[in-house]
Amino acid sequence: MLIIIFKLDNIISIKDFDREDIEYILDEAVKLEDIAKSKEICEDLKGKILGCMFFEPSTRTRLSFEASMKRLGGDYIGLSNVGNSSVSKGETIADTAKMFEAYCDVLVIRNELEGVSKFVSDIVDVPVINAGDGAGQHPTQTLLDLYTIRKEYGHIDNLKIALIGDLKYGRTVHSLANALTLFNNIELYFVSPEDLKMPKEILHDLDRTNIIYRELENIKDVIDIVDVLYVTRIQKERFTDLEEYLKIKGAYIIDKNLINNKNLIVMHPLPRIDEINEDVDNTPYNKYFIQAFNAVPVRMAILKTLVKK
Ligand code: NCD
Repeated sequence: MLIIIFKLDNIISIKDFDREDIEYILDEAVKLEDIAKSKEICEDLKGKILGCMFFEPSTRTRLSFEASMKRLGGDYIGLSNVGNSSVSKGETIADTAKMFEAYCDVLVIRNELEGVSKFVSDIVDVPVINAGDGAGQHPTQTLLDLYTIRKEYGHIDNLKIALIGDLKYGRTVHSLANALTLFNNIELYFVSPEDLKMPKEILHDLDRTNIIYRELENIKDVIDIVDVLYVTRIQKERFTDLEEYLKIKGAYIIDKNLINNKNLIVMHPLPRIDEINEDVDNTPYNKYFIQAFNAVPVRMAILKTLVKK
């Protein structure tokens, strides 16, 4: 009998979590990691179906949700190409979501509009998971990011973490910054070009907590002191002016030379474009591929927790 102390019915924003909820998911993921590693299948969610509503491109998030459901003994159905669905005929998200509700036990949604997963969670009676809403939030990515940090350091408290790149449009860094306010003695460094700074709303969230943060433009100013370099790509698809994107593209490149002899790990939600040189891939600094693997035990934990509630 699973004793649930997890309080949420849906996963919409990391701001809905307290530390206990986060640790619950991370601890469940630890228990499921062996199945993910040995590529076995258990029966925890046998007979259950995940509905995947992906209105924006996705590789890791979608594949890892699908793999997670399969490893739990369940199955999935989904939309990945809106052109193949009735959305292209003008069907509303609400009607599409109602169909998914009728066919599935849990829904995962990625959409370019902020707030869509919240809207869907208000109109359906099955759990809803936000897999990224525009430049808003990406809470399940944050859970696997925290899992990766905890696995590497044994703790999340007392770390100095640099978030680098497109802090304006990158939803992964928004959720991660919010989540880190729940931990103790964290120092955050926001490294970005002037035009891609962390949004004011997130800074206001941080200002209401004890977390220490600093905004800067040059990675060299913190490279010697940080434990984690969390690198992100410039989010080309969110720019209205391609010229602006081209000006900023390539602003930060992490290569082996930059991090040699430093005491840190390099993370990235992926996909990477050019922000991490491939010469980092075969070094012990590279934790971004392990991070992508960690998506499976963490998403297994999320699905199991929500569906079993
Ligand atoms: C991220 C996303 O979609 O927000 N990718 C992911 O889910 N692993 C990061 C990105 O697209 O840059």
